[in-house]
Amino acid sequence: MNLAEPMGPVWRADASGSGTNPGCRVMAVGSALPAKRVTNSDLEQFLDTSDDWIASRTGIRERRVADPGETLLSLAARAATAALSAAGVEASEVDTIICSSSSPDDTFPSLACRLQAELGCPHGTAFDLQAACSGAIYGLALAQSLIQTGMSRHVLVVAAEIFSRLVDWSDRSTAVLFGDGAGAFLVGGPDSPGSQIVAVDLGADGRGAGALGTLELPIEHRVTPGGPEYTASPRSLGRVVTMNGREVFRFSTKILEQVVLRLADAVGVEPGQISTVVSHQANSRILETAAGRLKFPFERFMTNLDMIGNTSSASIPLALAEGAAAGDCVEGDLICLVAFGAGLTWGGLLLSWGSTAIGIDQGAVP
Ligand SMILES: CC(C)(COP(=O)(O)OP(=O)(O)OC[C@H]1O[C@@H](n2cnc3c(N)ncnc32)[C@H](O)[C@@H]1OP(=O)(O)O)[C@@H](O)C(=O)NCCC(=O)NCCS
Repeated sequence: MNLAEPMGPVWRADASGSGTNPGCRVMAVGSALPAKRVTNSDLEQFLDTSDDWIASRTGIRERRVADPGETLLSLAARAATAALSAAGVEASEVDTIICSSSSPDDTFPSLACRLQAELGCPHGTAFDLQAACSGAIYGLALAQSLIQTGMSRHVLVVAAEIFSRLVDWSDRSTAVLFGDGAGAFLVGGPDSPGSQIVAVDLGADGRGAGALGTLELPIEHRVTPGGPEYTASPRSLGRVVTMNGREVFRFSTKILEQVVLRLADAVGVEPGQISTVVSHQANSRILETAAGRLKFPFERFMTNLDMIGNTSSASIPLALAEGAAAGDCVEGDLICLVAFGAGLTWGGLLLSWGSTAIGIDQGAVP
């Protein structure tokens, strides 16, 4: 089976930045992490694994893990507030909230509705979407459509994940990969300050649904012998991650390359004119392989997965906020965001970098 062939059209803004397809603006990016750091050596204490295996196969050295008192809502609210404050936009001006999480603590009410109340937003639209690790990009694409059609003026797209409550801590093949965190995008109309959304490419291939998903946690795995407190947190919806690592690896490297090429082609630039790729931070070998296929120097990929692991749909705003705050995005740069994940789903987006505000919630970072 030849999985994950992109099919649909790539949406692109009018080159002039005006007309009927002007392209909305990403006004701000916000991010928030739990304070607790868990290193690979910490995992060696209760899992049959090693720092060397994890670092060499994935590039991950440590991840953040939520304390029992932290919730998905509290992480999401911190990232959203950071984005709003950075942009100088009041919560009362947000008329749509879209949340993405693959590690929800409830099926309903949605995280978005609870966040709306938490932030004090008026009674606009609020809903969750499920596109696994591609959720933030799907959310941005929806924000673009809602604003362009006049249904919204300011959209908050918030991706929040607590995978430490979704992994089976006795399964070394998945437990070492993930981390907790949240990121947020504030999107406004074409007249707003920020980075222009220039092109969008979304896709899914449900024939690959079996490659990455969840299973009910077997009773014998509900307590990890010798594990620290966080391994005993109640499981998200009582389920744990299951994955065919090799299949996911093959899909991810291929789709990452294809989405970058499709987006470049849609706007009529050479792939080499893309200044920076902010990919889903799954694992550094996936990013290195894709960079090699694209003939991009690896430095063109923004990465922070060594310090925070794979934070699923939160990973792109988390990486972009950190990189942009470090000065790695310059006015006029073409920045390519690319996500891929369970479903199988994927999504990419080109930004023409402008005055996007960056808000990093340092609150819980020691
Ligand atoms: C998960 C991944 C790193 C595994 O790498 P791999 O080279 O394919 O490794 P394998 O699964 O073949 O396992 C190789 C060996 O390492 C072992 N192993 C697996 N996890 C281990 C760990 N954490 N520590 C030590 N050994 C481990 C396996 O048991 C296996 O041992 P065996 O040869 O005795 O059977 C790799 O498949 C991958 O990166 N996949 C994509 C995962 C991903 O990014 N998912 C999220 C996408 S959103």
